[in-house]
Amino acid sequence: MTFFAKLHPLIVHFPVALLTSGVVFEIYGSFKKDEVVETAGRFNTRLGFWCLFPVLIVGFLGMLSLENTEKFKDFLSGHLRFAFLTTGTFIIAMVFSRYFRSPVGRGIYFLVLVAGLVCVLGTGYYGGELVHRFGVSTAQ
Ligand code: HEM
Repeated sequence: MTFFAKLHPLIVHFPVALLTSGVVFEIYGSFKKDEVVETAGRFNTRLGFWCLFPVLIVGFLGMLSLENTEKFKDFLSGHLRFAFLTTGTFIIAMVFSRYFRSPVGRGIYFLVLVAGLVCVLGTGYYGGELVHRFGVSTAQ
């Protein structure tokens, strides 16, 4: 099971980077009316969204192998809360982009994307603290 705890930090960078660049490109491309940038952003957002699911599963499996979680339990629960918020927010964004294509729907889609960006950065912050402050899944 420690395999999954070590695998999780290796794969998390894909959704973090794809969703971050995707949201920034989509919003920047839309404001600048640059379709190429917006399309690149849409691609990254969608690929990042699908990458969330293996990362969540591996995160859960990795968590099962953790011991002495007392000293970092607040960070672990912060990480989990943000991970779920991130997933929920991007699911809502995907639903809006597919089924609500009116100008209002598009406005809401962009707002939800920004909320998702904040959530994914929060997830990364708490996850990073687990590894680099508390030494979770490292040789420390
Ligand atoms: C939105 C999905 C998720 C993202 C983007 C994410 C991101 C991260 C990041 C960036 C780190 C730090 C890696 C490093 O600094 O090298 C981390 C570590 C960690 N995450 Fe996640 N995570 C997600 C979901 C989950 C879930 C659902 C769980 C558990 C139920 C979890 C449990 C952990 C644990 C235990 C660590 C410490 C390292 C380890 O033991 O694997 N993560 N995560």
